[in-house]
Amino acid sequence: MRITQSSGQTPEIRRAGGSRRGHSDPLYIECQDLFKIFKRADLEVVSLRGVDLEVEAGELIAIVGASGSGKSTLLNILSGLDRPSAGQVRVGTRDLLNISDRELVHYRRMDVGFVWQATARNLVPYLSVQENIELPMAIAGTEVDPRRAWSMELLDALGMKDKAARLPHQLSGGEQQRVAIATAMSNRPPLLLADEPTGELDNQMADQVFELLRYMNRTYNVTIVVVTHYPGVAHSVDRVLHIRDGRISSESFLRPTFDRSGEVTHHEYLVVDRVGRLQLPTDYVDKLQLQGLATANIDDEQVTIRPVTEGPQSGQPDSVGADDQTAQELGQAPGQDEEEQ
Ligand SMILES: Nc1ncnc2c1ncn2[C@@H]1O[C@H](COP(=O)(O)OP(=O)(O)O)[C@@H](O)[C@H]1O
Ligand SMILES: [Mg+2]
Repeated sequence: MRITQSSGQTPEIRRAGGSRRGHSDPLYIECQDLFKIFKRADLEVVSLRGVDLEVEAGELIAIVGASGSGKSTLLNILSGLDRPSAGQVRVGTRDLLNISDRELVHYRRMDVGFVWQATARNLVPYLSVQENIELPMAIAGTEVDPRRAWSMELLDALGMKDKAARLPHQLSGGEQQRVAIATAMSNRPPLLLADEPTGELDNQMADQVFELLRYMNRTYNVTIVVVTHYPGVAHSVDRVLHIRDGRISSESFLRPTFDRSGEVTHHEYLVVDRVGRLQLPTDYVDKLQLQGLATANIDDEQVTIRPVTEGPQSGQPDSVGADDQTAQELGQAPGQDEEEQ
């Protein structure tokens, strides 16, 4: 099996989680080797196992992956609802691993807006649409006039000025989620997080939710991370990160073809982290029964990984096998380490 560079790939693609937008805005989110372990009685569940993530200020990215892969865990850590077990996580100027409880309250109130999948969880049922949008500002102590002005501007953005006085149950599911996005924007946070915001919506309503996310992103430069299964996601966001088993395994984005047609093509790349680890696609692993030992050889621009079918011979030093395993885990050619050290 060969892992080759995709055509047109530039060197920056090799950097885990880095910019894909062709210009480099400062990083707003930076996670390094992030772990989350849940302990229940004597059972441990490793939900995140070494996540590296970089998101630029003003980016709109999506996280996709199977159920149980760690998407909500990652979002909950970024929102300050949950603390990581190990690793580094910086959002803006804050280090979320070493943040005081007081700072965390401020962070959650002012620096991040959150939208849940369940529409009922996002809005207070007995408050009107406008009151819901203003509630976070009221809690933060914003004066009435600026509160009103901003909620009117947001209602205008939703195209829902005429529904300001309605209660949540008098809205469609799609409208409720759009109001939830406006409510999350109430205190003008620099970061908006949404965990499957369209999970309970049909595709047409989901389109509108993603259009609104893009509008908020472009108009107010809010950085957005959205966990989703929305089929149209590739065309709605700057990058899609694929999470598998608690690690970012690959990422995809559209690239212009640079011909006159103005077409864009979809590229998916494996993510190689700082120390050279990568996750091979499961179908590769299954097809070649790549598990346990493999060899990795480097040849020009290509790394070739092959399964090792024979175990260590008796009487031979087993350090040969150990070296190969390290190389396979790191996704590197054997010998590369020694050269660098
Ligand atoms: N509070 C918790 N206690 C114990 N295990 C948890 C908890 N939250 C999540 N997990 C486990 O962590 C893994 C990832 O969960 P989650 O982040 O919710 O996945 P996703 O959102 O991708 O479906 C799952 O195995 C899940 O059972
Ligand atoms: Mg989830």
